[in-house]
Amino acid sequence: MSTLDLSQMLTPRAWDDVAAGYRAFVSDHLRLYADDALKRLSVSPGERIVDVATGPGTLSLPAARITQVWALDFSEGMLENLRSQATDEELANLTLTQGDGQALPYDDGSFQAAFSMFGLFMFPDRARGFSELYRVLEPGGRALVASWHPPETIPAFAIINQEMMELAEPLDANAPPGANEQPLSNADTFRREMAAAGFDVTIEANNHSMELPDLNTMWSGLSEAHVALVMAKKQLPKDAFASLLKRIEDRLRKELGEGPQTIEMPAWFGIGHKS
Ligand SMILES: C[S@@+](CC[C@H](N)C(=O)[O-])C[C@H]1O[C@@H](n2cnc3c(N)ncnc32)[C@H](O)[C@@H]1O
Repeated sequence: MSTLDLSQMLTPRAWDDVAAGYRAFVSDHLRLYADDALKRLSVSPGERIVDVATGPGTLSLPAARITQVWALDFSEGMLENLRSQATDEELANLTLTQGDGQALPYDDGSFQAAFSMFGLFMFPDRARGFSELYRVLEPGGRALVASWHPPETIPAFAIINQEMMELAEPLDANAPPGANEQPLSNADTFRREMAAAGFDVTIEANNHSMELPDLNTMWSGLSEAHVALVMAKKQLPKDAFASLLKRIEDRLRKELGEGPQTIEMPAWFGIGHKS
C-alpha cells in the first residue's frame, strides 16, 4: 500500500502548493479571527508589529491599514499572494520577508506587538517559536498566538484525517500522554508552553463557524485548500489518490448529508505579555 509522509506538511513546498486554494477558500474566513486578534491587542497607529507565518497576509493586510507591519512566512507561494494584494491596495507600510518563524531575522525588542495566527502551532520547535516572539518584542510588548481545538471534534476534518491516517505510518502507541495530540490544541499545554518563553499568559476561546450552502461547495473548497490533501495528491500514485478522495467524499455525503453545512472552527488565542 502507498504510504503518506505527513511530515512534508512542515516544508515550504507543501504550502506553496496549497497557496491558491488556501487564499480562495480559507483566508476570508480566517480574516474574522485576524480582526478579533488585532482588536484584542488594541493595535494602534504608529506601532511596529510582526506577523509570523503570515500566509496570504490574513492578519497583515488589515493590520497594514492601521500601522507598520513586518510579515514573515517560509512559503514564497503564500508571500506572492500577499505581495499581489498589497500592491493592488497600494499598501506601503508592509515589509515582507521569506524566513523561518523559529529564527526571526529581527533585532531584539523591535516590536510592540507580535502575532502568529494558526502558524506557530505547527513549528517543529515550538519553544523556539515562542522564545523568538518574546525576544523581538520590546518590554511591555504583547503577543497573540492562535491555534485550533482538536480537529477530531470537527466532523468534516475528523473524516479527512481518519482516511488520511489509514495511509500514513501508524502513530506510536507507546508515546507519552498528549504526544499524539495536535500541538497547542489543549489550553493547559498551550499556557505552559507560552509561559515557558517568559510571557504572562491568558488563554481565551474564539470561534467563527463557516457556513456553506451545500456539501458540494464544502468539498470542492476543502479538497483544494486542505494542505495535507493537496500534499497527498503529489505523493500518492494517481489511482491511490483518486480512491482516497472517493472514500472521503462518500463518507462526507453519508455522514453529513448533501444540504447546507456548518464547519465549527473553535480556536484558542494565547495572549502573552512581556514585562
Ligand atoms: C494555516 S496557515 C496560516 C496563515 C495565516 N497566518 C492565516 O491566519 O491565514 C500556516 C502558515 O504557516 C506557514 N509556516 C509553517 N511553518 C513555518 C515556519 N517554520 N516558518 C515560517 N512560516 C511557516 C505556512 O507557510 C503557512 O503560510
